[in-house]
Amino acid sequence: KIVNVVLSGGVGSRLWPLSRKSRPKQYIPLFDNKSLFELTVLRNQPIVDKMLMVGSVQNVDLAKAFLPAGSSTIVEATPRNTAAAIAFAAMACEPDDILIVTPSDHLIENREEYEKVLQEGVKVAEQGYLVTFGIRPTKPETGYGYIEYEGNDVLSFREKPNLDTAKEFLKKGNFLWNSGIFCFKASIYLEELFRFEPKVYRAAKEAFEGAENGVLPLEVSLKIPSKSIDYAVMERSERLKVLPSNFVWSDMGSFDSMYDYLKTKGHAVDGHGNMAIGTDRQVSFLGVENTILVYTEDAILVVEKSASQDVKHLYEELEAAN
Ligand code: GDD
Ligand code: MG
Repeated sequence: KIVNVVLSGGVGSRLWPLSRKSRPKQYIPLFDNKSLFELTVLRNQPIVDKMLMVGSVQNVDLAKAFLPAGSSTIVEATPRNTAAAIAFAAMACEPDDILIVTPSDHLIENREEYEKVLQEGVKVAEQGYLVTFGIRPTKPETGYGYIEYEGNDVLSFREKPNLDTAKEFLKKGNFLWNSGIFCFKASIYLEELFRFEPKVYRAAKEAFEGAENGVLPLEVSLKIPSKSIDYAVMERSERLKVLPSNFVWSDMGSFDSMYDYLKTKGHAVDGHGNMAIGTDRQVSFLGVENTILVYTEDAILVVEKSASQDVKHLYEELEAAN
């Protein structure tokens, strides 16, 4: 069976104040009145046998409204990052099931290409590989993983490099962005996770087996080291393959990517690269450039485009202060 594991657990803190704990970014109907989550379901459902959402107790109801009949959910009491979230999904499946792991906060265009490359990915995954889907990089973005490649072989996987390193990767030319979409057999992922992060594996197993009423127990979950699949497995495994992919991909993870996307859609940008998001009011920028103003009912953010990744830290400070 081919199972789409939809990850929907993050808070989307880099998109604060658009994204809130009570309504993370992937549930905001920003795109032709559809949310990124809904678009993810619509895009993936036709190519898989089953959908399995791993998400947080706070927003599982928002998700369920869009999941097709016959879908399953794994509900986390607290987010423990993607290495664990994907482990829960793998533990819930048959060892030979092929998992297509997708975030729920991406915008993908050119569905034909998307379906084609995913179907190819399933074939490679059946041979026992961890398949990644690579996107041709257009700038030295530090919020992504980079895949050094030759054909379909992965020479190295480098998660979130610093700016100088990212620039070097772009110059070298044989690097792709990691799209954040993965495809592998459930058993192979668990084997690799156990090999590299036995603590994550064991604690995740304990939490998974202790689920009550479909919710993973909080206390046990808190023992799971918070690691992303990228650092935990992808940077270390020797069973990686990459499929260079040509679908149009935007990660709506931070305001700089949202800015770039909106710009291609004709959203207003002034002569100095400033943009206002979330309001029809007249917004004027003077003496500043490449600045994004984000307007919501109860909070306003002004951020220089290049500082978009730091909104996460701002969010964390605000959380701690509250
Ligand atoms: N269920 C669950 N539980 N989902 C989670 C959790 C969790 O604890 N943490 C994150 N997620 C979900 C997010 O909601 C998102 O859909 C996906 O997992 C990826 O997490 P992000 O936090 O958005 O990761 P990232 O953007 O920093 O980096 C990843 O994606 C990039 C592309 O968008 C990496 O895979 C990078 O290598 C990649 O380039
Ligand atoms: Mg992301």
